[in-house]
Amino acid sequence: MITLQGVSKTYSKNKTKALDSINLTIPDGSIFGFLGPNGAGKTTTIKLITGALETDGGTISVDGLELPARALEAKARIGYVPDNPELFARLKGIEFLNFIADLYGVDRDARRQRIETYARRFEIADVLSSRIGSYSRGMKQKLLVCASLLPEPSNWILDEPLVGLDPQAAFNLKALMRERARAGTCVFFSTHVMEVAEKVCDRLAIINKGKIMFTGTLDELKELRGKDGSLESLFLELVESGGGEA
Ligand SMILES: Nc1ncnc2c1ncn2[C@@H]1O[C@H](COP(=O)(O)OP(=O)(O)O)[C@@H](O)[C@H]1O
Ligand SMILES: [Mg+2]
Repeated sequence: MITLQGVSKTYSKNKTKALDSINLTIPDGSIFGFLGPNGAGKTTTIKLITGALETDGGTISVDGLELPARALEAKARIGYVPDNPELFARLKGIEFLNFIADLYGVDRDARRQRIETYARRFEIADVLSSRIGSYSRGMKQKLLVCASLLPEPSNWILDEPLVGLDPQAAFNLKALMRERARAGTCVFFSTHVMEVAEKVCDRLAIINKGKIMFTGTLDELKELRGKDGSLESLFLELVESGGGEA
């Protein structure tokens, strides 16, 4: 479970807040979608949770471990798929997976079995002995997904994970997100596409200009309002109706 209370962030070179006092509770055992247009603050939020950035104010905790004091323990409980799949180009896929497994302290048997399982599911088993520099964007992304699951994290965070995946890989990833959620994992992913959120998540939050415009279930969102009843138009209305500075 991940909680954020009153979390704010301003990048030093900017005047406006990238995040303006946001509150979020992301429960275990479900898929939570984080939806918002480009520049809304999704990646910033994710980087704060993963400890890559520090907040200006507010509280973040992961499985009850408050950042930054217990950041190392919190990080050990997070599997993270970044939005940009730029990796160590000179490493072979298998070397990268072993490096990540070493970082998280995954033992040999578990590691061998999980690498086998996930590499097969994402059809990258054949390229693990090649250098990452030779991979396509989609292959890099699939490798990152596999790597993020090696420690079987209780919190699985994915930043725009479906961008750049072919339909089969996207289908496999969505199925895996559902499986992990059923197994009790807190699955948190960002997207700028309403349709993706609509299909994939149990609960969602909508963010715009650093402010949370909505949190709840899809049904609750549908009940809210909307000119033509479509979720797409509802999303656009929420995003246009303000929050943050113009
Ligand atoms: N490294 C950075 N330095 C300065 N401003 C940034 C940086 N990263 C993001 N921002 C700004 O913070 C805001 C939120 O960005 P981001 O969290 O990347 O949004 P999203 O992931 O929703 O597209 C945007 O206005 C963006 O321009
Ligand atoms: Mg982003």
